Amino acid sequence: MRFAYAALTIVLCVGCGALPATKWTTAGFSESVEVLPPLQPEKPAPLVVGSTKLEDINPDPKIVEVNITAKKAQIAISPGRTVDMLTYNGLFPGPLLEANVGDRVIVHFKNELDEETTIHWHGLRISDQMDGNPRIQNPVMPGGTFDYDFVVPDAGSFWYHPHMNVHQQIERGLYAPLIVRGPDEPVYAIERYFMLDDLHLVRNKIPSNTNYGVPPTGIHGLYGEIFLINGRESTVNDFASAGRNHLERWRLVNTANARTMEVSIKNAVFRVIGTDGGLVEPYFATKLVLPIGRRFDIEVFFNQVGPAVLQTTDEIGPTGTEQIPLFTMNVTNDAETTLPPVWTVPPMPERTSNKTGTLTFDFTFDANDNVVWMINGKAHNHDPVLTFKKGDTVELTLRNLAPMTPHPFHLHGQFFKVISGESVEPGLKDTVRIPPGGTVVVQAYMDNPGLWMAHCHILEHSELGMMATIEVDP
Ligand code: C2O
Ligand code: CU
Repeated sequence: MRFAYAALTIVLCVGCGALPATKWTTAGFSESVEVLPPLQPEKPAPLVVGSTKLEDINPDPKIVEVNITAKKAQIAISPGRTVDMLTYNGLFPGPLLEANVGDRVIVHFKNELDEETTIHWHGLRISDQMDGNPRIQNPVMPGGTFDYDFVVPDAGSFWYHPHMNVHQQIERGLYAPLIVRGPDEPVYAIERYFMLDDLHLVRNKIPSNTNYGVPPTGIHGLYGEIFLINGRESTVNDFASAGRNHLERWRLVNTANARTMEVSIKNAVFRVIGTDGGLVEPYFATKLVLPIGRRFDIEVFFNQVGPAVLQTTDEIGPTGTEQIPLFTMNVTNDAETTLPPVWTVPPMPERTSNKTGTLTFDFTFDANDNVVWMINGKAHNHDPVLTFKKGDTVELTLRNLAPMTPHPFHLHGQFFKVISGESVEPGLKDTVRIPPGGTVVVQAYMDNPGLWMAHCHILEHSELGMMATIEVDP
């Protein structure tokens, strides 16, 4: 179902002593919304529904100190289906890491897997020594440990995952939500973090995918036939309830290997309030395109009684699509109205580019007819392809020479703004989709010195070579 963007109407009750009431109406939606005194969401920070929060073992309020262990576990993704997976702390998705801007985060990490791993904190602008790059930190060996120690500079929705053998380790379950809260954030009574994924099983097992370089997986990456939301099969249809006219904050991330998620909410309206790099000037949307790694924070308004369904688009056949329901909110006839919280949106950088750079995404085939993915003509391009000075503002042109697949480009350690191309949306990003055969131009803010991975987030593509290094102030 598609309807026009909702309009937000502010109704001021002059002289009646009440707070200004906010009324949401939807064009073409004739029901009048009764405005009653609002339920004021209270600080402190709300519960993030659907996540198990890591225990902070440090009493210092400015230090978040946690233990994370990567280990195998059996995970019930639905009542009838248990799968051997890799987990953080036995959970899938892993536990929520939550901190406030400026906090020092100490993670005592232990690797109980049979293989080497690292943790990358996707989106955090921290030191490259702590970024999980296995060419900078030593890979954590089986049975080994590593202490991550960094200060979180930016508020937003992030996630963490390994940065070795990613097409297997992430597919097998190693990913988890990460939230950094800022001092002046909107506070909603209910917040949820949804991690969207798809899983490919063969006889209820995750195959080892040793020949993942062979087409079609080598071309398109691995698609799963099972949609997962927070580690649960979409067919389970987990649900919650809320009253009509209530608002919730939802954070969404796409953690799939290869699939772009196209998300909408049936029977509710929403506006985008944040993305990769934190809060944005709110805007209404009816559909969200999430390339792999991308986050959106949305404010969802339940304007209709009945089931409101978070859903994603699946392709059937060459042209057809169907909507896969992921999560249902049963909206009850509670007419109390929640006011959208008021907050200040941090201004977007107004900077003039002083440098330019180009990354070209191309492919070839090796002697065994396996696909090889390259950036600027080279697979696994570990010598810096571009070098900048700290503080450079770079007009970066991203060119996808492949006509058959997009490349969700991810830059570590910095944010950028999309200038032209497919998804020119408000806000700072660390991930952007370069359409098949297309070009995207971003303005990147090279403010964080170090050696930074720049890669495609289709996990098979990065493992097959689509990985480069950008150097900032060596
Ligand atoms: Cu989600 Cu290189 O990272
Ligand atoms: Cu790619």
